[in-house]
Amino acid sequence: MRVVATVQEMLDTRSNVAGSSKVGLVPTMGYLHEGHLSLVRLGRAENDVLIASIFVNPTQFGPHEDLERYPRDLPRDLHMLEAAGVDVVFTPSADEIYPPGFVTYAEPTGPLASEGESAHRPGHFRGVATVVLKLFQIVQPHRAYFGQKDAQQVVVISRMISDFNLPVALGILPTIREADGLAISSRNAYLSAEDRKVATVLYQALQAGRRAFDAKAGDGTAAVVRAMVETVTQESRAQLDYAEVRDPQSFVLLEALQAPALLVIAAKVGPTRLIDNFLLRADGSWETGVLASELKWVEEERDR
Ligand code: PAF
Repeated sequence: MRVVATVQEMLDTRSNVAGSSKVGLVPTMGYLHEGHLSLVRLGRAENDVLIASIFVNPTQFGPHEDLERYPRDLPRDLHMLEAAGVDVVFTPSADEIYPPGFVTYAEPTGPLASEGESAHRPGHFRGVATVVLKLFQIVQPHRAYFGQKDAQQVVVISRMISDFNLPVALGILPTIREADGLAISSRNAYLSAEDRKVATVLYQALQAGRRAFDAKAGDGTAAVVRAMVETVTQESRAQLDYAEVRDPQSFVLLEALQAPALLVIAAKVGPTRLIDNFLLRADGSWETGVLASELKWVEEERDR
């Protein structure tokens, strides 16, 4: 596995594999977990050359957010990526991606830019869209892989691909969950033992929302939102940011119980902010995530 840290080296490495029929990219901020590994596994299976990036992107963090303390463990990440069969890892510094004089950003508009996560993290998706566009330009992947866990990010990136006519196919994989339903996330490392137990409240709220959705109460998505809000309110250590039902393509709020739909939730558990979602597909089936214990390869990977 090659590890390259500069944009020039990455461009050179990419042109050396220009003849490869398919190049896949798994963009990450490191501190890898089973969610990332599920992307790497599919990327490995679907491409001739698989490239992963590790970059804690400063422009997607607000001024009072956790950029400095975001968990990092490069040796462990490289070990995991090598074991999973990645060919190249791109690990640029912030100066490589944002050199002096950098002034141009990619930015969504409309509800994606002002609602949901954006209402609580202004500018977050401007940072995400910009870095992902840069990674696409530098790595030139045929396919790129992201987790459904960051549902609004998936909408932002798929809109950007379409709006800018980018020649990249998206692979979106289900959220991977702990045995009690908590969505696996690098930020779960912040949870105290007590908060870790409480953190399942997001999953429980989504389950309550899904039951209300399936029960098709008379007042449309209001009953779904009520079910989610009531579940979180019962937990004194959890503070709800939002619980909403949105269109997974446009991200507009939905009032009618229709498919497809996205149940999104964000809450603080103690000091840690967590997000999660369930997706109701157009065919009426739910995408609620996969328990890590159901993935045979997790145990194999841990034993390595
Ligand atoms: O999902 C993430 O880890 C990040 O937002 C991404 C897509 C790597 C961009 O920094």
